[in-house]
Amino acid sequence: MSTVADLKIELVEVCEAAARACAPFVGSGQKDHGDGLAVAAMRKRINQVKMQGVIVIGEGAKDEAPALYDGERVGTGEGLAVDIAVDPIEGTNLFAKDMPGSIVTLAAAPKDAMYKPGPCYYMEKQVYPRMARGKIDPEAPIADRLQQLSRALDKDIRNIRVFVLDKPRHREMIQEIYACGAKVRLSTDGDVNGAIQAILNIGSDALFGIGGTPEGIVKACAARAMDAEMFGRMAPQKEAEMALCKKAGIDTTRMLHCDELVRSDDVMFIATGLTSGAYVHHVKTGRDDRGAFMTTDSIVLSGSLGNIRRVQTTLHV
Ligand code: FBP
Repeated sequence: MSTVADLKIELVEVCEAAARACAPFVGSGQKDHGDGLAVAAMRKRINQVKMQGVIVIGEGAKDEAPALYDGERVGTGEGLAVDIAVDPIEGTNLFAKDMPGSIVTLAAAPKDAMYKPGPCYYMEKQVYPRMARGKIDPEAPIADRLQQLSRALDKDIRNIRVFVLDKPRHREMIQEIYACGAKVRLSTDGDVNGAIQAILNIGSDALFGIGGTPEGIVKACAARAMDAEMFGRMAPQKEAEMALCKKAGIDTTRMLHCDELVRSDDVMFIATGLTSGAYVHHVKTGRDDRGAFMTTDSIVLSGSLGNIRRVQTTLHV
């Protein structure tokens, strides 16, 4: 019987194609143009993959960027039925400014396994590495959660580093983290990147804060694949969004575990680096006697056993 994990090489190629298409515009200041190129390349390659895919988490509704839209059917229409979550450029500002942490990302799980957030564009998130799984009370105050994390990782609280998006809504939380003696890694954008750092425990020990819901589902797939810990709670930020969530009956009080955000062990997360990063390199270009080439660097987290595959591909273009 085929599984989502069997699609990994083809789905890595989808992310690589998107990265090669938009990489020439890293640092160009043109985030929408780059996004458009990544979306077009992703759509072309994903439609060659033998699967009955449906984009259940696309992007675009939040900021009206170019998008692979929710409900779009992708793949050849034969084979396994798959839920797909995509973010052709995660961290479009980082991409446009050539700042660290911009990636192409895609997650996949069997049909109907991914949580559908409806009109809720923002989610409050907590992400921790595997050693903290089952050891954090997500409803506890920050000081208690940092103590629980410190014990789980056997690490002095002064050496705990929390990734937080540098947004006004997080000002108070950042001060609370400092007050506990822990450190904060701030980034203007890119909370999938922050979550992967926490999940792999490379550079950060946790991620706290409110970011996009699509990004929340993508990182839940990564957390599930690595048997790490994650919680998410719908957190509408704008009045119109709050009204839509109320109308749709979305519970904004309940903390969802990553096992509810993606309900399968047959799960996959892929990230291909666009700009430099903690766990994937940026796209590199070069030239040899065969002509110009591009090298992409990707990471694949799949299954639920904590398996990590790294894929570096050089293609003449
Ligand atoms: P884009 O890739 O769509 O630009 O999103 C970047 C990002 O920083 C996400 O990583 C994060 O989840 C979200 O934006 C936060 O949204 P906002 O900037 O509206 O607070």
